[in-house]
Amino acid sequence: MAVQISPSILSADFARLADEAAAVPNADWLHVDVMDNHFVPNLTLGLPVVEALLKATSTPLDCHLMIEDPDRWAPQYAEAGAGNVTIHAEAAKAPVRTLRQIRAAGARAGLALNPATPVEPYEDLIGEVDMLLLMTVEPGFGGQKFLDVVLPKIRRTRAIIERHGGEVWLQVDGGVAEDTIVRCAEAGADVFVAGSAVYGAADRVGAVEALRAAATL
Ligand code: DX5
Ligand code: ZN
Repeated sequence: MAVQISPSILSADFARLADEAAAVPNADWLHVDVMDNHFVPNLTLGLPVVEALLKATSTPLDCHLMIEDPDRWAPQYAEAGAGNVTIHAEAAKAPVRTLRQIRAAGARAGLALNPATPVEPYEDLIGEVDMLLLMTVEPGFGGQKFLDVVLPKIRRTRAIIERHGGEVWLQVDGGVAEDTIVRCAEAGADVFVAGSAVYGAADRVGAVEALRAAATL
């Protein structure tokens, strides 16, 4: 599958979100980090802001729910019109039901794993997901250092995906920049979230293209 880049608006100017979304017209997705100050020690935005963003941009929204009760909230993001809704395996109490509800509402369904959460227990759920998200930092904040310890899990996840037909996307999120993206791509990732590497750059369009070029092996 072709490389996809999903700039994270967590590193954008929250007072100018529509402009910040428009600053990356060459992005495949806009990554929206929803944090509730319970699942992670940070608070960002929720459904009303996502609904406003959906009206402000034609770039599909890639909603990453770092919240304690994804079973309650995730279907609502899908119904609102998000292109992808990702829930955390550590937080979901009924992941199969919730992933099915996301798909039934017309969105792609993603399952995210923190750095220390193994992928193997979730292999049987692979038919329920369109994307697996491997966190390459502990979730909660932008601008953290990429965790190399996740690289072997990226390789194992790629192998699992290939065993099951190769259709599921493999996203990485956290510390992804022009150097680390190459290692992630070599390990088998194909969808790349980048916050500070895009919104910290003066030329955001150029930053997206540089990441895409670096990840295209
Ligand atoms: C972290 C978020 C990430 C964050 C990545 O918990 O899930 O999406 O925005 O930011 P960078 O790319 O700066 O590490
Ligand atoms: Zn994220």
